[in-house]
Amino acid sequence: MTEPAETAETPAPTSCAAHVARARALARNGDTSAATEACIAALRSPDVPVPMGIKIEQLLRELGQDGIADQVRAGLLQVADKTLRDHGDNVEALREVAAICLELGLGARAVELGTAALARTPADPDALRFCYMATLRTDAYPPGGFDVEPVLAASSDPVVFLGGIIKMLATFGRHEDALRLVDRARAAVRDDRDRRVLRRIDDALHGRTDPDSQRADAVMLFDGFAETYDQNLAAIQNNGPAMIDRILKEIALPADVRLDVLDAGCGTGLCAPFLRPYAKLLHGNDLSIGMLEKCRAKNSYDLLTRTDLAAAETYPQGTFDLVVCADVLVYIPDLTRTFTNIFDVLNPGGRFVFTVEEKQQGDGYAVTPSGRISHSEPYLREVLQKTGFASVEALLRDALRTEFFKPVAGLAMAARKA
Ligand SMILES: C[S@@+](CC[C@H](N)C(=O)[O-])C[C@H]1O[C@@H](n2cnc3c(N)ncnc32)[C@H](O)[C@@H]1O
Repeated sequence: MTEPAETAETPAPTSCAAHVARARALARNGDTSAATEACIAALRSPDVPVPMGIKIEQLLRELGQDGIADQVRAGLLQVADKTLRDHGDNVEALREVAAICLELGLGARAVELGTAALARTPADPDALRFCYMATLRTDAYPPGGFDVEPVLAASSDPVVFLGGIIKMLATFGRHEDALRLVDRARAAVRDDRDRRVLRRIDDALHGRTDPDSQRADAVMLFDGFAETYDQNLAAIQNNGPAMIDRILKEIALPADVRLDVLDAGCGTGLCAPFLRPYAKLLHGNDLSIGMLEKCRAKNSYDLLTRTDLAAAETYPQGTFDLVVCADVLVYIPDLTRTFTNIFDVLNPGGRFVFTVEEKQQGDGYAVTPSGRISHSEPYLREVLQKTGFASVEALLRDALRTEFFKPVAGLAMAARKA
């Protein structure tokens, strides 16, 4: 998932997935012809799973290789036709073909097959989620949405399930329906965790944040995510660590193993592989024990500690030459205390490198429908200056990840302490 700086000279991978990862990294670095070759190598793999074929088709189009992409698309549609011919009475097959159609832009067919699958298995959460997603993405969303009751009746975690649908509706601008499902979720609340999940969703829909709950919300969220975090982040094309990698190269920090580095909000440790070349000492900290445990199992940090970035007294002892924050500040509304704390643990001349979701209009910060925070460039510059940082050395913009298949605007910055 972390995408190191790929070059055409990097040893060629062997599996289809590895070829695709390499192709994506090459494309990101602007090496279109090597990226195309990597796509072709992926297609020649002995086993090309359908979802991987779809990714290759999309990447080839991004690379401007419509001719090859058309051939891949034709092959995928043949697979879809054959699956329907051979297993058309099987719900799994219907859903699989529906997903292929959706990704290949055959929206109406995707909706038709998805709703046929849901009609046969109305209590299947994946079938219901697919129908919401397919209709929202193709402007075929039916007034009032779908019947959620069969899924809720069979669900072991109804509030979290509804939460996912509510965020999807809000992301696609279906505010009224999202609020209606919040009311439905209220009736399904069973315990404090459900109450907290729902409060966060409701706050996001109303554009509110509750700074006092930040710590408890992050712990709840990430202790729950830790087990599946790495796989999920790969699926949504998480680009935060790669953006940090790129900006570190842009400021030309020498990768000579001499710096004391803090990966602040290290999570499961996705940044470690490209921070290591800079680090004499690599320290990771995070608020979530679940994430820290996943990270510890990879054995890639010299030290790991539990820290709330907004609480100075929980920081590890010592000072650092580089502090990195990848995809962490999206959980913290007002950044003043966090930036002050980071400034205080930096050595003179030290660097602070971070990503945020960018609030592209206006200044300040805002809550997004997903409950995260987006920060504007003017706000970040203001807080950096107010907390003592001398200069912004570099800035880059790119998609941070996809959310319900839409790219999320990201901003990476490198600031320096005088
Ligand atoms: C989306 S993950 C990113 C993890 C890692 N940096 C990466 O790029 O994969 C956000 C991380 O921030 C942590 N976090 C959220 N609020 C925090 C806080 N106030 N102090 C420390 N860590 C926090 C979460 O526990 C979670 O591990």
